Amino acid sequence: MDKDKKIALITGASKGIGKALAEKMMAENYFVIGTSTSGMLPDFPTDQLFALTLDLTDSKSIENAHEIIFKKFDHLDVLINNAGIGPDLGSPVPDQMSYDQTFEVNVKGTVFFTEPLLKFIKKNGKLINISSKMGSLNNCSSSDSIAYRMSKSALNMYSKILTNRLSGTLNVGIIHPGWVQTTICESNLKNATLTTAQSAENIYRFLSSDYESGTYWDAEDEAPLLW
Ligand SMILES: NC(=O)c1ccc[n+]([C@@H]2O[C@H](COP(=O)([O-])OP(=O)(O)OC[C@H]3O[C@@H](n4cnc5c(N)ncnc54)[C@H](OP(=O)(O)O)[C@@H]3O)[C@@H](O)[C@H]2O)c1
Repeated sequence: MDKDKKIALITGASKGIGKALAEKMMAENYFVIGTSTSGMLPDFPTDQLFALTLDLTDSKSIENAHEIIFKKFDHLDVLINNAGIGPDLGSPVPDQMSYDQTFEVNVKGTVFFTEPLLKFIKKNGKLINISSKMGSLNNCSSSDSIAYRMSKSALNMYSKILTNRLSGTLNVGIIHPGWVQTTICESNLKNATLTTAQSAENIYRFLSSDYESGTYWDAEDEAPLLW
């Protein structure tokens, strides 16, 4: 690995926004540690990306991923918590399995994956949590997608807490990536407004800016969001 390159860890780099972000970060001369549940990211060049197995529903997998990161690398410059699921998107009430899985991935797994890595991110480095404006209490005028919305509100609170705790050491950004053409929800591929590349472009513009730590940012409108 080229020692001059900054290192970005992106969870959920197998497809969708995470994959486009990995491509964008590599094009911007980052070395990327990309995660997938299978441990395979065959579309990427191995000299620019290290593929890491991570299943956020499995504490052993989280532990193994930490061990590998600490063994193979000596720091991170950017951590992007992108992996997320929304099995109850559009449903009025989630079934219990969808509810549990959503919180396992979007909240619990994300918290316990992040915590040991915080000290590993370089001073003044960046921590980006890919949230959603569906987690905003102010913006909510709908009555669907209970588990998904609640999980993103919880992620927002975690991000707020980290902003307070890490003040002066790390810059936290909380991002709504826009309505993006991915397989997270059946209707997205057909109806969503942004391609994954457009979303990644906008997210990168935000993360490489001099944003104020704790900003909750809409990458589609390129404006701050209300909590
Ligand atoms: N698309 C949108 O319009 C939209 C809007 C607002 C917010 N978001 C947020 O953007 C992020 C990316 O979403 P997307 O639309 O790109 O979704 P996606 O295409 O479905 O990709 C989801 C990613 O999360 C990973 N993932 C799923 N379950 C996992 C687990 N148990 N452990 C670790 N990784 C897991 C997947 O990896 P595997 O393939 O290995 O399972 C995949 O790489 C999510 O946090 C989502 O909530 C998306």
